[in-house]
Amino acid sequence: MSTKPEIRVFTNLEEISRAAAHLFVEQAARSITERGRFLVALNGGGTPNRLFRLLATDFQANVDWGNVHVFWGDERCVPPQDPGSSYGQAREALLRHVPIPEENVQRVRGELSPSEASRDYALRLKNYADPSSHGTRFDLVYLGMGEDGHTASLFPGSPVDVSDPTMPVTAQYQDRPANRVTLTPVVFNSARVVAFMATGEKKAQTLAEVLSGRYNPELYPAQRIEPTEGRLIWLVDEDAASRLPRTLLSKFCEG
Ligand code: 6PG
Repeated sequence: MSTKPEIRVFTNLEEISRAAAHLFVEQAARSITERGRFLVALNGGGTPNRLFRLLATDFQANVDWGNVHVFWGDERCVPPQDPGSSYGQAREALLRHVPIPEENVQRVRGELSPSEASRDYALRLKNYADPSSHGTRFDLVYLGMGEDGHTASLFPGSPVDVSDPTMPVTAQYQDRPANRVTLTPVVFNSARVVAFMATGEKKAQTLAEVLSGRYNPELYPAQRIEPTEGRLIWLVDEDAASRLPRTLLSKFCEG
């Protein structure tokens, strides 16, 4: 039985990023206390940049980086130095500024072909499998949403009934590299906390569809994210929330 989303509306990206950084600090502390490690999956795209910088600066001292293990929800198949690499993006804004051991950074090998990179990533994930469950349970997953309703690299029309934890993908979106690897809902939906961040009027209509009661995951892949035993949190700005029905807001809104 999946949980209802918590929708938090903020005035701007700065506030969203601060809320997301607080979530990181809290989840890291709780996970390390309870299980000795914190498994987090990052996203790419423009939205998480401010979060990464906040974690590297204002919030850095509040995290026990030695026990943080970083993964990605998806990656573009480009070498790590390429401007399109989500790993490269996080390394520049966050990872090279914090004392995280190099062996705790589990990047997707974007320099390989999508299918090779997907297989390699699946094996790496397996090393982190939770002894009490079948797969790897992330303590926190950050996701973004495209104007077309995609999330990570789960694009409209991509297969819905997937049983593998990772998947190679080819999909053209804006000017971003098309060859990609993504985690699948098998992994996302076993996470303890999934936090979406979305901003801007251009995403408002899609967000309203995604959060409506009309289930159409072929068209709106973000609807495939439904943690079975975890929290689903949407951190959005007022523009992105502008088309959400009042009923939905009064029912779930916390912000
Ligand atoms: C990637 C992502 C992708 C992203 C959305 C939103 O491209 O790396 O994982 O799913 O989160 O496209 O991107 P923006 O934050 O740039 O709007």
